[in-house]
Amino acid sequence: MHILRKRGWELPEAAATPEAVFLNRRQLLAGFGLTAGGMAAGGIAGSALLPGGALAAEGDPSAGLYPVPRNEAYQPGRPLTPEAITSTYNNFYEFGSHKQIASAAQALKIRPWELRIDGLCDNPQTIAIDDLLKKMPLEERLYRHRCVEAWSMAVPWSGFPLAELVRLAAPTSDAKYLRMETFLDPDVATGQRASWYPWPYVEGLTLAEATNELAFIATGVYGKPLAKQFGAPLRLAVPWKYGFKSIKSIVRISFTDMRPVSFWEQIAASEYGFWANVNPDVPHPRWSQASERLLATGERIPTQLFNGYGEQVAGLYTGLEGEALYM
Ligand code: MTE
Repeated sequence: MHILRKRGWELPEAAATPEAVFLNRRQLLAGFGLTAGGMAAGGIAGSALLPGGALAAEGDPSAGLYPVPRNEAYQPGRPLTPEAITSTYNNFYEFGSHKQIASAAQALKIRPWELRIDGLCDNPQTIAIDDLLKKMPLEERLYRHRCVEAWSMAVPWSGFPLAELVRLAAPTSDAKYLRMETFLDPDVATGQRASWYPWPYVEGLTLAEATNELAFIATGVYGKPLAKQFGAPLRLAVPWKYGFKSIKSIVRISFTDMRPVSFWEQIAASEYGFWANVNPDVPHPRWSQASERLLATGERIPTQLFNGYGEQVAGLYTGLEGEALYM
């Protein structure tokens, strides 16, 4: 039985981010002449100059692959969140239960890095990250990201559709779910020494969700390889679900006929369920999900069902109305 502790990402946003920290961030951006609108107008080209960018993937052997062509079909409908903000405000419990884990995460070694694909599939394999990157069609997509804590951002991920990886694995007809697992290395990831958490971090999707066009494996961001704090070198992006589903630094994907129990579900199933689809009308047991705070500006805007991606994903859930689809 796990001891329940107060987790940083369960605090209301105002408590998790002291106003002074937030204001300093804004002043920093203003100093660079960068507002969220300015970033959107200028695109991502200038991001390497930003302080957050300085922590990004320097010396990464995949650097030459980026930037990748943008798939214009995926527009966030709001300005991109500046890299200086998204790369310094992260949830990555392996490196600490607060948002300022970026420098601790630099301890993560991302080469060599292998992805193990196993379980109910015809093509199980262990593949080195750089071989995988050569096989996959890389593209950039601008996605909204909605954290269960009720903050949100818009991010230019680079990577490939998860459906391509599923195709590579060739699941058998018995496979119903994907179970995904993060690395386990408490020597490097000091957060994993906290024994009250059920390490390693695990997440899951149905096969139908994993092959939906929106399910994306991010390998880069802001036109560069993923910085470590974003979950290098492989991280899921499922933008219609709360952010905790988007598992970072994946080492294993297993095809299974049993629904995986995810990390947060093991800790508090009544608060963080398997489905975790964004819905403004279904409050978290301890706070409202009706609105969200834009990380860049602090503006509060109404939350949308499926984070605004209902057109692509609502059909995945017909016939499942009896399930707790929105927690
Ligand atoms: N993956 C792992 N392995 N460990 C984590 O702590 N946090 C999740 C998700 N993936 C987490 C993780 C949560 S709660 C969110 S909101 C997003 O990562 C945060 O991603 P970001 O830091 O890139 O914003």
